[in-house]
Amino acid sequence: MIDAEAGFDQEIDRRGTFASKWEKYRGTDILPFWVADMDFAAPPFILRAVEARLRHGILGYTETPDDLVTAFQNWLQRRHGWTVPTQWLVWLPGVVPGLNLAAKAVAATGGSILIPTPVYHPFLRVPAHADQASIKVQLARSHTRWEMDFDALGEACGRDTRLFLLSNPQNPTGRAYTLSELTALADFCLEHDLYLCSDEIHCDLVLDENTSHIPIASLSPEIAQRTISLYAANKTYNIPGLGCAVAVIPNAKLRANFLGAREGLVHGIGPRAFAASAAAFADTSQWLPELLEYLRGNRQRLQQLVGKRMTPVEATYLAWIDLRDLSIDNPGGYLESYGLGLSDGLIFGGPGYVRFNFACPRALMERGLQRFEHALNAGHEEGRGD
Ligand SMILES: Cc1ncc(COP(=O)(O)O)c(C=O)c1O
Repeated sequence: MIDAEAGFDQEIDRRGTFASKWEKYRGTDILPFWVADMDFAAPPFILRAVEARLRHGILGYTETPDDLVTAFQNWLQRRHGWTVPTQWLVWLPGVVPGLNLAAKAVAATGGSILIPTPVYHPFLRVPAHADQASIKVQLARSHTRWEMDFDALGEACGRDTRLFLLSNPQNPTGRAYTLSELTALADFCLEHDLYLCSDEIHCDLVLDENTSHIPIASLSPEIAQRTISLYAANKTYNIPGLGCAVAVIPNAKLRANFLGAREGLVHGIGPRAFAASAAAFADTSQWLPELLEYLRGNRQRLQQLVGKRMTPVEATYLAWIDLRDLSIDNPGGYLESYGLGLSDGLIFGGPGYVRFNFACPRALMERGLQRFEHALNAGHEEGRGD
């Protein structure tokens, strides 16, 4: 039962619900801080919207509801300053299908796709799904943040490169790219004749109070014509099990290719997911500001423990933590032996790192941090680190 009084502090037992996050460690004492969903209940206004839809009784094939389209357009305008007409929108059951359809929509025989790494691991499988070669270029780390390395990107970009895959805000480094960075990226895509697929699923999870999310396609009509932007309410409102996402594709030819690629491969969206997303995009309550405040508290606790091992997380609830000095072959496995289930960086293209999902009740977070501290101290004592 949800305890409204306890709010984000409530520890809801997810075991027995087949939740992917907890199921992975079923029967063990390992605490999961890996896959990107939150150990918080979805907000009451979303649960009520789903319940109301269920009460109708018939859960048949469903067209995209008008109120969802309007709520999404108003949300994108209200929160991120971008006005998009209905015909630019293509609805999908998830953002990951959108990444893969984007690649198919622009694929040319023998083409290649440029991907800055480390990155959310399904990005790395996109090229193979579209018969494209993969060109991975490392992000560069300064003291305070991870940045695009445009020199390296320029050198790596081939004449047959068709597509750039962007994660913004960035999973796993927690960057929210600035206007000047996005302008430089848009110029880079125009100069190299690239299409751009911009996954902006974490755009409402900006924790840094001096930062705001900028949809790259809103920068100019030129970059809009080359961009497929992907959005969903799933991360922000913790409803990823109710798949619903949307691609914004201003270019009519690109949109037709994308729709052609979707045909027969990607299933329609269910009525519960539509109802939940409509309620989410219409939200102007205090639920999200309170969530962000809670996440800032968890971020601070984690930063206190790991210090310079991580750059400040500007957005998302994911922290990218450098354990390379411990010289552990398998950091994920090492931490599991201390009862901590994090994502190993190898799958994101960042060996020696781990990703910590800090979207959970504070008490659970503290138990995890204690274990993390033991593991780090033991790593040092064994002479693994300096
Ligand atoms: C950057 C990014 N894109 C996409 C997804 C998944 O989106 P979906 O479940 O809608 O396919 C995630 C989930 O963690 C993510 O972090």
